[in-house]
Amino acid sequence: MIYVYLKGHDFEYDVRELIKVFFFNEDIVFIHNEEEYTGNNILLKNVLTYNKYGISSTTMIYMDNKLLSKNSITNIQDIKIEKDDLKKKIKVGIKQNIYDSLIEISETSAPWGILTGIRPVKIVHTLLDKGLDEEEIFSILNNQYKLFKDKAKLIIDICKRQRKYIYPLDENRFSLYVSIPFCPTRCLYCSFPTCSVSKYDDFVDEYTDRLVYEINQISDIMKGKTISTVYIGGGTPTAIPMKNLDRIIKSIYEYFGYDNIVEITVEAGRPDTIYRGMLEMLKKNNVGRISINPQTMNDNTLKLIGREHCSKDIVKSYYLAREIGFDVINMDLIVGLPSEGINDIKNTLKEIEKLDPENLTIHTLSVKRGSKFRSTMDKYKIKSQRIIDEMLENTREFAKYMNLQPYYLYRQKQILGNMENIGYAKEGKECIYNIMMMEEKETVVAAGMGGVSKIFYPKENRIERIPNVKSLKEYLGRTEEMIERKRNLLS
Ligand SMILES: C[S@@+](CC[C@H](N)C(=O)[O-])C[C@H]1O[C@@H](n2cnc3c(N)ncnc32)[C@H](O)[C@@H]1O
Ligand code: SF4
Repeated sequence: MIYVYLKGHDFEYDVRELIKVFFFNEDIVFIHNEEEYTGNNILLKNVLTYNKYGISSTTMIYMDNKLLSKNSITNIQDIKIEKDDLKKKIKVGIKQNIYDSLIEISETSAPWGILTGIRPVKIVHTLLDKGLDEEEIFSILNNQYKLFKDKAKLIIDICKRQRKYIYPLDENRFSLYVSIPFCPTRCLYCSFPTCSVSKYDDFVDEYTDRLVYEINQISDIMKGKTISTVYIGGGTPTAIPMKNLDRIIKSIYEYFGYDNIVEITVEAGRPDTIYRGMLEMLKKNNVGRISINPQTMNDNTLKLIGREHCSKDIVKSYYLAREIGFDVINMDLIVGLPSEGINDIKNTLKEIEKLDPENLTIHTLSVKRGSKFRSTMDKYKIKSQRIIDEMLENTREFAKYMNLQPYYLYRQKQILGNMENIGYAKEGKECIYNIMMMEEKETVVAAGMGGVSKIFYPKENRIERIPNVKSLKEYLGRTEEMIERKRNLLS
């Protein structure tokens, strides 16, 4: 248990997220009176003070009433970050100060420094937009946000690769996300809002009707604007019958036209849903990019995580897709799956090398609340941060060797080893939708259960989210409301 006492500010959320980087599984309790700390466990006390010389922050950490560390920083108002915003500078200053104390008492390292957000590359875009050069940006990331040098270099590199797709910004351009929230079974680690296709079989036709209706209404709402990319994700879109998916894709073309769509992706995902007829239908519908996701090429792990397919099925689906003519195939892997160590990831990469996909997305396992893994994780030995990093280093070297460049990156809560997820692509084969969705520089309109629309306002450089409901029955009953929410903001 870690008690936290903040004085002079109320950045509770940010302080909690930072402490979680160092103490993954500890309960964190905020107290509002110092006497509430009984002397047992850890107390982290942070005090913000203002005086005529400037703004300062001091952090003390006690263990069983004994002082373990004490740090202060001064002149917080002069911190140089991407925004000239005093509140943001104060938050950064407090986090820097707490970070300095936590690093002294914890064995965990924090490669992402004080950054706890999902989209670190966004900061680099803002700094480049302000005209800073690479050296200045690197210095802010490394000295102010305390990123390790390799992470700072990585996000600068990714940002530079993304810019040709993002700029010039266009208020009238948008992407479409279509959610198909069905899967053959639920994987051990997954908490995405998705339903078992066999259990909810009876609802698939009704869902298709409602979804096609929502897509139609979105085309009306977005009249006069230009569609750029389409992403059909889930769940597992190929888990539903071929005729339903065919109808959904055809409706997109019917309502938005063919001409402006520069990219259409279908996250086929699970090899146990991929067969010749399905792939031929996708190809006929001009789908240019599909995912065939191994997660791992080790059969014992596939069984353990409930994927219900083996590595041979992955290889078979992959070659079938090649035979049918797909020339951009993405493969998702997860590093840190239960029971996997360095040799397992090496074996997976050896098998992926033979396939040579154009895109590879490396996720680090995130222990999601709501996943079966979270409730049963005591059964599994979680790998240390050092091993996770070594496994990731293998994937980084592998990507380089395969001429796959990192082109988008995001972080998640409860991610093992404080790491990240990275999308790699061969030159020119980047998924534009992934960049737009991650960097939030273009409107994404989402249809279907669990889809989150994000309206981008370039002049203010901000987005507004409009989430659709996350339950199937709610979505079926409230489709009209989901459409109206979007109409209100977008029309
Ligand atoms: C929305 S899922 C859909 C993919 C598709 N249904 C499949 O399973 O192949 C997208 C990807 O997120 C990743 N993912 C899901 N849950 C995760 C977790 N808890 N930790 C790390 N990666 C995760 C997996 O690699 C998965 O392929
Ligand atoms: S990982 Fe994919 S197949 Fe597995 S439950 Fe999540 S969305 Fe479904």
